[in-house]
Amino acid sequence: MYKIAVLPCDGIGPEVVAEGLKVLQVAAQKYQIEYETVDYDIGGERYLRTGEVLPESVKEELAQCDAIYLGAVGHDAVPPGVLEHGILLTLRFEFDQYVNLRPVKLYPGVETPLANKGPEDIDFVVVRENTEDMYVGIGGSMKKGTPDEVATQLAVYTRKGVERIIRYAFELCRRRDDNRQLTLVDKANVLTHGHDLWRRTFAEVGEEYPDIKRDCHFVDACCMWFVKNPEWYDTVVTTNMFGDIITDLGAMIQGGMGVAASGNINPEGVSMFEPIHGSAPKHAGKGVASPVAAIAAVQMMLEQFGETDAAAAVDRAIQAALATGEIPVTTGPEGSTQRTGDMIASLVE
Ligand code: IPM
Ligand code: MN
Repeated sequence: MYKIAVLPCDGIGPEVVAEGLKVLQVAAQKYQIEYETVDYDIGGERYLRTGEVLPESVKEELAQCDAIYLGAVGHDAVPPGVLEHGILLTLRFEFDQYVNLRPVKLYPGVETPLANKGPEDIDFVVVRENTEDMYVGIGGSMKKGTPDEVATQLAVYTRKGVERIIRYAFELCRRRDDNRQLTLVDKANVLTHGHDLWRRTFAEVGEEYPDIKRDCHFVDACCMWFVKNPEWYDTVVTTNMFGDIITDLGAMIQGGMGVAASGNINPEGVSMFEPIHGSAPKHAGKGVASPVAAIAAVQMMLEQFGETDAAAAVDRAIQAALATGEIPVTTGPEGSTQRTGDMIASLVE
């Protein structure tokens, strides 16, 4: 019996999460998976109402779950950073979800902005480190608001943190398919301390995986090649900050934010699954947002549970639905959110 905490949060979060849960229900029934969901009223509205972002009591309950399913955070009336830090980053850090897994896969029937590239060219996965780097929040400022203002924001890398993400990426690369190639994306030519640690760790751990071809790309060149030669990539491992940036680019080449999902994974703890997109307040409540990314997040959750048959069935259903060409991948007409969810759910059946 899996216990899944559901945090729909803000904007379009609740409506896309509803479709993900619809698909989960059908897949669970078909593959005899028992689960229960517990809904949490977290997000901008609660913050505005009560001043609470993520109460301790909620955190304690989340720690007892098998997974967290999150919609989207971000609210127009809440200053930027409050919910992002208070909910998303707090969960990633406190539950030590050190892997941020972001598949970049172009499904047949989905349009990519890249000319002359198709599904056979765009099929890789980015393993983004999720607990270190500039995201740790170490830094400060002085003489704020004056012409002499100074501000620092430290990028922190630890041997342990770097090694565990690199090891995860090698293992994942080995499991994925026979085209075993792992690319480290860094900026070792400029960040000669921090990214030297990445390079050395990558080379050392790589010795244990002689079956995997290794490559190192500078992040700026990587951005160029994601666009020019996406077929060069199989598995990519990178830092938190670079992973944030290159996966938005990745989401675009796979057809847009409406299809890109991610897993914040602690292999020994509580993992959290979410669409990559934000709360898109201007689209909220209209049923126009694509729920595909949220449904793909459910597929990743099933995969993480080890429910591989159910995960594969959801993946096939998403692909079949997209192949009809009738599914809007970013936004569509009113009611398309629900119709897309219905279609994918019926294809799982
Ligand atoms: C993401 C988002 C978050 C990040 C923000 C909302 C804190 O952009 O999941 O990629 O920077 O990691
Ligand atoms: Mn991002």
